[in-house]
Amino acid sequence: APVTTPDITSICKDAKDGTTKIDAAIRTRKCCPPSLGKAIKDYVIPSERIVRKRWPAHQGTKKQVDDYINAIAAMRALPDDDPHSFASQAKIHCAYCNGAYNQEGVLDKDGNPVPLQIHNSWLFFPFHRWYVYFYERILGKLIGVDDFALPFWKWDEPAGMPIPEIFLPKEFKGRPNPLFDVYRDAGSLEDRIVDLAFQGKDKDRSVDRQILCNLNTVYRDLVRNGADTLGFFGGKYVAGKTDDDSKPAAGSVESGSHTAVHRWVGDDKQPNDEDMGNFYSAGYDPLFYVHHANVDRTWKLWKDLALPGHVEPTDPDWLNASYVFYDENKNLVRVYNKDCVDINKLSYRFIENSKEVFPWRKSRP
Ligand code: C2O
Repeated sequence: APVTTPDITSICKDAKDGTTKIDAAIRTRKCCPPSLGKAIKDYVIPSERIVRKRWPAHQGTKKQVDDYINAIAAMRALPDDDPHSFASQAKIHCAYCNGAYNQEGVLDKDGNPVPLQIHNSWLFFPFHRWYVYFYERILGKLIGVDDFALPFWKWDEPAGMPIPEIFLPKEFKGRPNPLFDVYRDAGSLEDRIVDLAFQGKDKDRSVDRQILCNLNTVYRDLVRNGADTLGFFGGKYVAGKTDDDSKPAAGSVESGSHTAVHRWVGDDKQPNDEDMGNFYSAGYDPLFYVHHANVDRTWKLWKDLALPGHVEPTDPDWLNASYVFYDENKNLVRVYNKDCVDINKLSYRFIENSKEVFPWRKSRP
């Protein structure tokens, strides 16, 4: 049977260590979402003519950048107990990744509830797609811009590899920059060019070397290691399986460039590599969503490569797995993997400005 998320507003515990240890947490482990006393309804994808055009974070127009900054500022201004607040959005990641929820309707062989974990398996891409989808819609709603679209950190092309400029200044027009986060690695901020194969130690490569390495990594994640469905999406994970007894494998992007970026941005001088370097805290850095917008885009790029084997799972246990979110109208909705496969139905696109959509295509390591 598919992994099923319970009613997150009634079945929820504080985040515990789960798969990653949390020492002396500097962010809260109280990650449960606020309850507004609503019943869960199956999400109906709005039929709308608007298309949200996600833009490369290093190439935003003035309007795109201003809207984005204003939207994050508006989100930060909400009280924490609002489901749309900055903290509530950050806690979604913590709750789904650090043992706050148990899978609905299953017990393990000893009769105990089975924790839900959306990483290290084929739930990784669809869960994060829905998460970023609602986050984008909430931001648009907060500033009243119907076609509001998120930037994506385009680390698969050389010009997009540095941490996008807009995230760096502490202040912006004399006000605190809402995109700034204190818990980032100082050395990485100085280098700016991401290391997509980062393993915890800076390699001090020249810029040219680093670019080549990164292109190799993207090739590896999207072509060599992602050659078939489960290689790309991650291992099969169904109801009742725990993290411990059957670690389903992470897919090629998840275990590769995706995790490297988290570790490279997170501050290893903090007790748990906050913010980006740990599940429970990653959502507190606005870069998280911009990174994940690009991770989401790699799903589309992989599909567009149209190589044999580049097909989404068709197993009903994947198609019918579901999560629960607050949508932009604060309705509590259940969403299914099968409804997020086609991004056209979700009314967003990615703006591809470069002539070369696959600059890493010839970078076979
Ligand atoms: Cu849920 Cu980038 O991790």
